[in-house]
Amino acid sequence: MVKVIVGTQFGDEGKGRAIELLAPDVSVVARYQGGANAGHTIYVNGEATVFRLVPSGIIYPHILCVMGNGMAIDIAELINEFELLKSKGIKFEHRFFISQLANVVMPYHKVRDDTAGSIGTTHKGIGPCYEDKYARKGIRIIDLIYPELLKLKLTQNLQSTNFDSIYEQYKDFGEYIAPYVADTSLLLNQWIDDGKEVLLEGAQGLLLDIDHGTYPYVTSSHPHSGGACCGLGVAPTKIDEVIGITKAYITRVGNGPLPTQLPIELEEKIRAKGKEYGATTGRPRRCGWLDAALGKRAIMLNNIKKIILTKLDVLDDLSEIKICTTYKSENSKLFPICELASGVEPSYETLPGWKTPTTHIKNYNDLPRAAKNYIERIKELLNVEIMAICVGPTRENTILV
Ligand code: IMP
Repeated sequence: MVKVIVGTQFGDEGKGRAIELLAPDVSVVARYQGGANAGHTIYVNGEATVFRLVPSGIIYPHILCVMGNGMAIDIAELINEFELLKSKGIKFEHRFFISQLANVVMPYHKVRDDTAGSIGTTHKGIGPCYEDKYARKGIRIIDLIYPELLKLKLTQNLQSTNFDSIYEQYKDFGEYIAPYVADTSLLLNQWIDDGKEVLLEGAQGLLLDIDHGTYPYVTSSHPHSGGACCGLGVAPTKIDEVIGITKAYITRVGNGPLPTQLPIELEEKIRAKGKEYGATTGRPRRCGWLDAALGKRAIMLNNIKKIILTKLDVLDDLSEIKICTTYKSENSKLFPICELASGVEPSYETLPGWKTPTTHIKNYNDLPRAAKNYIERIKELLNVEIMAICVGPTRENTILV
């Protein structure tokens, strides 16, 4: 089986939880887009560790990990993560593969990234790296392996005085990563044909997709499940299922519309309880009520039938909870992803809160009635099955449904 994991909101839905949940049965985890703009917190021996580039499957010794051609890879960050893995005793030789076709984030990309600050990017050089990719002057992983290619490509990109130092540094990077570089599309297709269980993981979320998100306040790649096909070289007909990850409320970092954003006091409460600070930049995340009208768009575009609902426990203290079911404007019942998005006014349904801790709960039936009502309403509005509900930060705090 080949499954794609997609965030149905603005990223930070907790996609790492899906990997945790599915890991025992999975042989391969492959990441298809984005770069060090993402960040997933993984618990290694009970200790929270943030990875930005390597797929979250890396902590499981039986899982083969792939960084796909659709990614924008910052090699210095990657080497830091390799060192971090080594320091935690995680062995990844012979089970970690980097696509030779992935693009490399160069120092000059970071300098060019959102200099006006109007989008509120992560300043990791992601946008400029993809710009160069589409201008067909990007530097790819394969170029680092062959110094003469690297020199040629750098000459096309760089006139500055620091040419030599960048060339030397990236040549060394090439030597460091060479043992992991592979034709990953070939490997993946072979593994899929051999019947391995494969998970394709996106970064960010559908509403940050360059085409289907709230343009221009988006990332520069395709978190959409279709991004998995191009970003890994896997045909759409080989994908069996798309699993959505939805947080029990919504968050967004950076600028752009967030129709259900909470009033400041409540927002701060949720932010503190949910530790809603960017894993990459540390910026406070904007927080809002769950937006089903926005979620429905993500469900439709990815043909999602099942979701994992994360961070339900963050709502434990509230006396009432709202869900945006639609928008007041006649012609925008679904989230309008174009410029109209900034003007929409949500229509809310208000449900009673449960005001009881849920983190210790293991069985769906043991959840308070009001929590079950909230979950049932989400299911109904999004027209999906719920596979699992996360009620705390670790794998133990998961209710399988
Ligand atoms: P960029 O991806 O750094 O170009 O940033 C573009 C937009 O996507 C900004 O609003 C970022 O805050 C947002 N973004 C990028 N990566 C993530 C992520 O992993 N989680 C949430 N937001 C992200």
